[in-house]
Amino acid sequence: MRKKIVAGNWKMNKTVPEGEELAGQVAAGVSSVPAGVKLIIAPPFTHLSCVRKAIAGSGIGLCAQNCADHEKGAYTGEVSAKMLSSVNVEYVILGHSERREYYGETHEKLVKKIELALEQGLSPIYCVGEKLEEREAGKHFEVVDSQIREVLFTLSPEQMSRVIVAYEPVWAIGTGKTATSSQAQEIHAHIRKTLAGKFGALAEEISILYGGSCKPSNAKELFACEDIDGGLIGGASLVADEFLAIARSF
Ligand code: PGA
Repeated sequence: MRKKIVAGNWKMNKTVPEGEELAGQVAAGVSSVPAGVKLIIAPPFTHLSCVRKAIAGSGIGLCAQNCADHEKGAYTGEVSAKMLSSVNVEYVILGHSERREYYGETHEKLVKKIELALEQGLSPIYCVGEKLEEREAGKHFEVVDSQIREVLFTLSPEQMSRVIVAYEPVWAIGTGKTATSSQAQEIHAHIRKTLAGKFGALAEEISILYGGSCKPSNAKELFACEDIDGGLIGGASLVADEFLAIARSF
């Protein structure tokens, strides 16, 4: 059975006290979420230690939004995978389209980041997804395949077994436009098939999350699809009740 996961990507939102409050509200509501659904929250780096305390004992997983592509050294402003694991971070989002687009994250850098994260015992949440013009040109399968092949195909099966994949069509992120459940299911099934081509039966065990304007009103239909194992939630993760309502959609 694949893990069902609902992960909240706070992006660059909330001060530390606001983040502590939000994490506390999510932790307080965890008992309303069906057993077997794993909640994860990904606050900014500055919030990690405080959020860790706010969610202690709740079973919620702690996730960072990025890590460096070097182990350590003279890389001003960067945060290493080892630093994250030293504050008990368990997951890290890598390859988010905003990082690819605004911070020049190439496949080569992402391969390094994933390797370093895995070495430190972190589980990467690796994001893939096409832009609007790529979908309109019918290239979405091709784009997602290359994001998977060039990065995830460098991993061993043991490494791959610790990766979570998130499909996030760029045109649906923060736009209020969601992929229909049939569009999402179609590409999730395709991603699983691509993974199976390299990793065989392991592909059946990999959780593939949907991201892009996922909210309480559409989560139920999306999560009911066979190959959609949960969500990576941006905007709606900033309000505890909405985030928890999404997790209750299973
Ligand atoms: P959104 O963001 O839910 O605000 O569309 C999703 C994401 O970027 O992870």
